[in-house]
Amino acid sequence: MEEQVNQIEQQALKAISSAADLHQLEDARVKYLGKKSEFTGLLRSLGSLSPEKRPVMGALINKTKQKLQHALVNRKTVLMNADQQQKIEAAKLDVSLPGKGVKLGRLHPLTQTMHEAKQIFIRLGYEVAEGPEIELDYYNFDGLNIPPHHASRDAFSTLFIDEHLLLRTHTSPVQVRVMEKRKPPLAIVAPGRVYRRDTPDASHSPVFQQLEGFLVDEGITFGDLKGTLTEFTQQMFGRDRKVRFRPSFFPFTEPSAEVDVSCMLCNGKGCRLCKGSGWIEILGSGMIDPNVFKAVGYDPEKYSGFAFGMGIERIHMLKFGVDNIRLYYEDDLRFLEQF
Ligand code: DAH
Repeated sequence: MEEQVNQIEQQALKAISSAADLHQLEDARVKYLGKKSEFTGLLRSLGSLSPEKRPVMGALINKTKQKLQHALVNRKTVLMNADQQQKIEAAKLDVSLPGKGVKLGRLHPLTQTMHEAKQIFIRLGYEVAEGPEIELDYYNFDGLNIPPHHASRDAFSTLFIDEHLLLRTHTSPVQVRVMEKRKPPLAIVAPGRVYRRDTPDASHSPVFQQLEGFLVDEGITFGDLKGTLTEFTQQMFGRDRKVRFRPSFFPFTEPSAEVDVSCMLCNGKGCRLCKGSGWIEILGSGMIDPNVFKAVGYDPEKYSGFAFGMGIERIHMLKFGVDNIRLYYEDDLRFLEQF
């Protein structure tokens, strides 16, 4: 019997130490120490031994059992550590893998340009006002010295909602709305969307954005207009730009002037962008017409002022060499991401 115990011990120790994982180890435990194992059978058969042999064999079997249990625990610890190590290795961060790449949002190029234009005037002391996009014909036309059936109404291809309601064709109606409510001195810029019944092409969009501005006080002259708009143009396009005031016509200003900037592409020499003239038109302006003052109840003998209006798309297109206005409204990230 002693022989048999030793043999089991050798086999069991071998099986335990060669168990490659926790499953194999458990199999070894069941096989050598389980209820149905040879070893348990030996324990049960102790009763059939002689009284002298029984305690000797009992002690041997118990000692062996303890030894095997000890070996099991040791092997189990080793295998569990290896298992955990393997899990850690598998979960290890591979810093050489490409990252997930968080996409950053940004402001639309027109929002950026509008902000920049507004900020220039805010630094000069102007405040910001807004008006409705659905406008009364009175504010869009009559109050701006454009009477019904006047030819200059045709210049604005208007989208009408009904007889008196329309989508504003410019931001100039904000002038009338503000002056109607407040007294000079006033220095205001009015940003916003405007609408025209135009077929979209590279330079036309049925919706676009304007920044309007006006200043009213006693003793305002055309010199103030020139100084202010020269400062704006050079802050926007660069100190090395030349600025030119060219006589023009708007019903709501007298005299009227369009502001040109020396061509940023050819530096005034003449190219395709400036159509050979060396100059590029960037905004309309003028001294506010006395009829506009009368419409809002100001005394044109006491007050004078200047006004101006510009298209924001146009400013961005010129600054960045964009050749198609539709790009601003197509939501193509490949375009938008560049700004
Ligand atoms: N409202 C004009 C337009 O949309 C632009 C403009 C010209 C605004 C002259 C003004 C101005 O305030 O004085 O074409």
